[in-house]
Amino acid sequence: NNTPGLVVVGAGLFGLTVAQQVAERYNIDVAVVERRSHIGGNAYSETEPRTGIEVHRYGAHLFHTDNERVWRYVNQFTGFTDYEHHVHTVHQGVVYPMPINLGTINQFFGAAYSPQQARSIIGEQAAEMHGRTPTNLDEQGVALIGRPLYEAFIRGYTAKQWQTDPRDLPASIIRRLPVRYNYDSRYFDDAYQGLPVDGYSAWLASMVEHPRISVHVDTDFFDSTQPLNRDSLVGRVPVVYTGPFDQYFDHSAGRLSWRTLDFEQEVLDVGDFQGTSVMNYADIEVPYTRIHEFRHFHPERTWYSKKSTVIMKEYSRWAGLEDEPYYPVGSPKDRQALQRYRDLAAAQPQVFFGGRLGTYQYLDMHMAIASALSLVDNSLDELFSG
Ligand code: FDA
Repeated sequence: NNTPGLVVVGAGLFGLTVAQQVAERYNIDVAVVERRSHIGGNAYSETEPRTGIEVHRYGAHLFHTDNERVWRYVNQFTGFTDYEHHVHTVHQGVVYPMPINLGTINQFFGAAYSPQQARSIIGEQAAEMHGRTPTNLDEQGVALIGRPLYEAFIRGYTAKQWQTDPRDLPASIIRRLPVRYNYDSRYFDDAYQGLPVDGYSAWLASMVEHPRISVHVDTDFFDSTQPLNRDSLVGRVPVVYTGPFDQYFDHSAGRLSWRTLDFEQEVLDVGDFQGTSVMNYADIEVPYTRIHEFRHFHPERTWYSKKSTVIMKEYSRWAGLEDEPYYPVGSPKDRQALQRYRDLAAAQPQVFFGGRLGTYQYLDMHMAIASALSLVDNSLDELFSG
């Protein structure tokens, strides 16, 4: 009998963490089913052959966490470099550090404000709203950081991300805009950050190097011609499902909406294109939101080509039916459908929904891992430890 004790649908960080933990803790056979031709979900990376440079195929992935347990967990599978992420942004032909900090403010206003002075000037600019509750994203931005900084650094970028004028977007999209009144320009302030020393693929593969785990790529859980599929398994074997929530229920309550990204990758015959890993483009006139240059994620890798480099332009748009879902939109209609799917999911005791697609929420990698660990602790443990 080769029926596994658990089937995990999706080999992203959520699914890999569950599979690894169940195999190790309970010594149970776990089958991981993945519709793509590779494991790792969106954290997957590959080597660009001409330059030897590691490229993140589904967008740049920087690991960061404050969670001790997650940090100890991931360090079982890979070491991390001491890379610290910094981002810059181009506005009207000038480069500024992001997120907005005292360096950005002083450069933008051509000033030498102290933290207190900057705080009070931004406070005065934000007071333009006279305490009125913002009714759209544009007003929200002004209320949070004042009009000059909002219009320079946030307005155009947000309009490009959403393909919508911010006056037509709900205020709730941005609850806060971080402004640092010091010169700390690190993108993440988490205690632990870095990139996997031997790359993402090596890390992700080592998570499922276990005799109890079998991985089946190019296998769609909804394809009934495959041996491991929904119709033949659900009800017989516990399933952890990390694919799209609405697809599991055949979109019966409507499609949940997502934004997607288009990536345009180029190899350029120049050793260094932009001097840093990520350059944002704040102005609406530039169609892309940012350019990644992958060599800068690993300055320690001496084998990278010195004569050529890999860049990737990123464009944001609404996802169509065939597109990769990247960011949940979360409109009122989506929230209604989500509630309906949650009710349907509650009636499926042997299926555990998890991960960013399976719960329709944006999760950073450390959050996906933490939530997978809690699923094992809180639900699967009861099932398997008996
Ligand atoms: P993930 O999407 O990775 O995996 C789900 C898997 O399920 C996929 O491989 C999919 O093919 C598979 N699947 C779906 N349906 C299936 C079916 N029917 N049958 C079989 N398999 C199926 N995080 C971070 O910490 N730092 C960062 O810098 C970034 N950057 C970033 C950039 C972009 C553009 C995005 C979209 C996301 C990030 N992230 C991030 C977030 C990170 O990608 C996220 O935390 C993980 O992908 C979550 O892992 P999951 O396993 O939940 O989903």
